[in-house]
Amino acid sequence: MTTTEPEFLTAARAFYDAVAADYADRYGGALATATWDRAVLAAFAELVTASGGGPVAELGCGPGRITGHLAGLGLDVRGLDLSPRMVDLARAAHPEIPFQVGSLLDLPYADGELAGVVAWYSIIHTPAGLLPRAFAEFHRVLAPGAPVVLAFQVGEDALRVEDPFGHPVTLDFRRQRPDHIEALAAEAGLTVTTRLVREPEEGERSPQAYLLAHRTA
Ligand SMILES: C[S@@+](CC[C@H](N)C(=O)[O-])C[C@H]1O[C@@H](n2cnc3c(N)ncnc32)[C@H](O)[C@@H]1O
Repeated sequence: MTTTEPEFLTAARAFYDAVAADYADRYGGALATATWDRAVLAAFAELVTASGGGPVAELGCGPGRITGHLAGLGLDVRGLDLSPRMVDLARAAHPEIPFQVGSLLDLPYADGELAGVVAWYSIIHTPAGLLPRAFAEFHRVLAPGAPVVLAFQVGEDALRVEDPFGHPVTLDFRRQRPDHIEALAAEAGLTVTTRLVREPEEGERSPQAYLLAHRTA
């Protein structure tokens, strides 16, 4: 039996395959000046280590810039992304890290296998009605008490990006209200303990949210 892929996944893959190389060039070095991103990732790494360590996954890893940073913080990290082109770039940039193609809605990990999950601007292309499924997957693959960090743009509506870097592709970036995401996470058994919302910095069009949660023990 063949199943038809939902259109939003096909669109997201086509968009990120098209922009992968330009995205990697544009954002590859961005963490160096992203004070809050590094602070949140450092806190996440510390929480993973404090709860005993183990395998961690970046879901929607793009070209692996965050995955590589987490490896540099001492984590046993792997990456997963919908876009084969992004995964190619991630493997080339970080040959020591395992990367694979896949969807955060259907994770290739065993129940309770992971000591941490990072979803860094990757839930933003999932329709609202499917976020509970994504969070249920995060919950399924996390060990009890293990941390998860979510980063996303804050807002009430989607921002449509057209012709990025001159490529003829279009995709909606779904901004979210942090309290709504927190409530959905809680329903899936992920308890948010830390919320950080910062104002837009140069080149950004929205405030940015970072939620730190853990799988409810
Ligand atoms: C804005 S980029 C962020 C990439 C990376 N986390 C970073 O911060 O550089 C969003 C990434 O999420 C991936 N993505 C979107 N929907 C996904 C899904 N359902 N499953 C896995 N990856 C997905 C895209 O292919 C893209 O690489």
